[in-house]
Amino acid sequence: MKHNKPWGGRFVKQTAASVESFSESVSFDWRLYQYDIEGSIAHATMLARCKLINEKERDAIVKGLQEILAEINAGKFKFKESLEDVHMNIESALIERIGEAGKKLHTARSRNDQVALDLRLWVREQVRVMIKLLTSLQREVVKKGKTSFGLIMPGFTHLQHAQPVLLSHYLLAYVEMLERDKTRLQDCCTRLNRSPLGACALAGTTLTTDPALTAKLLGFKGVCENSMDAVSDRDFCVEYVFCLSMIAMHLSRLSEEWIIWCNDEVKFIEISDAYCTGSSIMPQKKNPDVLELIRGKCGRVFGHLMALLTLLKGLPLSYNRDMQEDKVALFDATDTVQISVSILAELVANTDFNREQMAAACEKGFIDATALAEYLVKKGVPFRVAHEIVGKIVKECIRVQCKLADLQLGSFTAFSSAIEKDVYKVLGVENCIKNYKSYGSTAPGFVKKRIAYWEKKLSKG
Ligand code: ARG
Repeated sequence: MKHNKPWGGRFVKQTAASVESFSESVSFDWRLYQYDIEGSIAHATMLARCKLINEKERDAIVKGLQEILAEINAGKFKFKESLEDVHMNIESALIERIGEAGKKLHTARSRNDQVALDLRLWVREQVRVMIKLLTSLQREVVKKGKTSFGLIMPGFTHLQHAQPVLLSHYLLAYVEMLERDKTRLQDCCTRLNRSPLGACALAGTTLTTDPALTAKLLGFKGVCENSMDAVSDRDFCVEYVFCLSMIAMHLSRLSEEWIIWCNDEVKFIEISDAYCTGSSIMPQKKNPDVLELIRGKCGRVFGHLMALLTLLKGLPLSYNRDMQEDKVALFDATDTVQISVSILAELVANTDFNREQMAAACEKGFIDATALAEYLVKKGVPFRVAHEIVGKIVKECIRVQCKLADLQLGSFTAFSSAIEKDVYKVLGVENCIKNYKSYGSTAPGFVKKRIAYWEKKLSKG
């Protein structure tokens, strides 16, 4: 009996149904179809140039593949589990459609270099998508930074009031992080941008081929230098999912903060009803579930990074079927982070900041104390001494329950003769903000420039 698999020549028994469903990957790797076809078209073009197929055969292959692509795009293509993966599904459909010429497509190619190629093409495209999404998110954050310019909030360390900052400055901190995330993705792309096609199963081929041509046709910077490395390498997947993990971590930090910020005690923000959900029992509730989910999904992405590292750690060279599992992690990490970034952009656009609550919070916690210490430094007091003096003044304020700016000059001079009546020009959050000077600080002039910088940079696309 003829075996029904493309690799069935040496088999006498059909594959067990349980093995078929256990080992198939087409239920998830069908998503690679576009890249699989793109790769096959480039491969056929190369085969024809190298006279391994003739031009008629090449044209039939290209046309057949394009028709299959259209069919898949239209949702009319039936992927078969019995054909294992996306690669064999498409190849079989091609042979069914064009006959003998289709059987030549897999010349000088293995699924090992084919899947490595598809993955590289797929990740390269997803990097492009992700960078776009991050840019959109950055734009929304910058917009908020611009419209809220001048709004002052307490900056935190240890989640305690620390020093006053402009809300815009806080927001732009995330824009910086997201920008690094983008460059990290781009950097990851420079390493993956080499074609593994031509490595075949692991050792290359005895046929005369031109891997540089396929690499060029597919927009790669070059060909992988070592065929065993080419089919074994999934570093780029790990690196890419690490980049995604970093993004997810950044989103999760912002989410955590904003979850705190919409709590009844803090109320720094009001998220639009459209981006909150309610409770099934407590009628008054309006919960920041979107932010909580972004924070929660972050764990899932980290999990995929661990899964990939663990998947690879014990694998001997070169290809092992374990590697089929890479796609599960890769796809889900991508979907999860993409949806998180895009919904966060919407949520940011639909969030208002509460000026009064932020201003009220600024009155608590002596957040102008460091400004007072620096005032003393300007009067010639060594910083450590100034720190000690201000610490004592704060203690006194706690005792009499007042703010630093409420103290009479006489009370100040009792602690240090260096304090004069110009001290009131440094106390209070407004003065603090006005007086910041250092590069990269929350000084309004710097922040304004940075908003303009980002607006210009992000308008480019
Ligand atoms: N579906 C396989 C994967 O995703 C394709 C490569 C299969 N290669 C093999 N020698 N069985 O890894």
